Amino acid sequence: MKTIRVDLGERSYPIIIGRGLMDGHFVLADYVPGSDCLVVSNETVAPLYLDRLRQNLAGREVASISLADGESFKTLATMQTILDKLVASGANRDTAVIALGGGVVGDIAGFAAACYMRGVAFIQVPTTLLAQVDSSVGGKTGVNHEKGKNLIGAFHQPRVVLIDTDTLNTLPMREVRAGLAEVIKHGVICDPTFFAWLESNMTALLEKDPEALAHAIQRSCEIKAEVVAEDERETGRRAILNFGHTFGHAIERCLGYGEWLHGEAVAAGMIPGCGGGIANRTACHSPRALARGDGPGQEGSAKKAAFCLVALARRGLCQHRL
Ligand SMILES: NC(=O)c1ccc[n+]([C@@H]2O[C@H](COP(=O)([O-])OP(=O)(O)OC[C@H]3O[C@@H](n4cnc5c(N)ncnc54)[C@H](O)[C@@H]3O)[C@@H](O)[C@H]2O)c1
Repeated sequence: MKTIRVDLGERSYPIIIGRGLMDGHFVLADYVPGSDCLVVSNETVAPLYLDRLRQNLAGREVASISLADGESFKTLATMQTILDKLVASGANRDTAVIALGGGVVGDIAGFAAACYMRGVAFIQVPTTLLAQVDSSVGGKTGVNHEKGKNLIGAFHQPRVVLIDTDTLNTLPMREVRAGLAEVIKHGVICDPTFFAWLESNMTALLEKDPEALAHAIQRSCEIKAEVVAEDERETGRRAILNFGHTFGHAIERCLGYGEWLHGEAVAAGMIPGCGGGIANRTACHSPRALARGDGPGQEGSAKKAAFCLVALARRGLCQHRL
């Protein structure tokens, strides 16, 4: 079991990474401040892992809600159902909201936790690779608006992030590939040695080799924790984590949320972002420019590349090949 600390003063928290953690190797109940909690999951993940999580929360009163599955349900209307459940179950300021699922569940549940009674305790139990390497860490929560991705949200840090890597055993390969896009992003923006390691170990990662995945998750969390600790509210350096997201979000919105997976869109978004070469990107002096796609070497070609990708995708030509 590995522990990485996100250093944010009084909002600091641990990221716990290991195998079989949900099956009692880690006591999540210790992080629930009061007598009760609400587990937010979805119709795919709940049948797989909710019972295990309940056992881990022995001694606490556990309510649960299962959301419809998919990015297209990452909406205010879905979040409202969580708030309704909290009200109906008499939740108070000591109630904890626990997200069990991928980044969609984590983002919506976290936003509900940020809003209910002006903020209650939030815990992340991410079950996709993307959520384990990225979305569960850093406290960004929110929902989509038809005019833009993640337009409505709040910063609300979790109390703990529990990453049971065994949950990846049931994750479909398309989702594993999408998660690897965010892992590669971390190598590109912050750590050339890690990037080189990824190149050498990609076969093992795609075969879901537990040791390779554990290393990729740990290094990604370390990188994200370090960047977030330096710039929690994204006033500067944190914007580097958005590499590939400007075009990625445009693709997701233009094609309709859920058509491309978030990681696939980010992978596509990194291609124009790398227009000037990976060396250029890692040495880029302006993270904001990098995130916007107008850093050195990105002008013009970046926009064209993004339009080409969207046009190709609209014709169904490159949806699963990126
Ligand atoms: N908050 C942040 O900092 C941040 C960062 C990156 C991405 N995001 C957000 O994360 C979302 C994408 O997250 P995602 O890629 O995890 O997608 P997701 O949450 O939609 O999960 C992908 C699919 O995998 C299923 N699933 C989850 N765990 C499973 C498991 N163990 N076994 C089998 N199936 C499982 C889900 O039900 C879903 O169908 C996007 O909305 C994106 O905007 C947020």
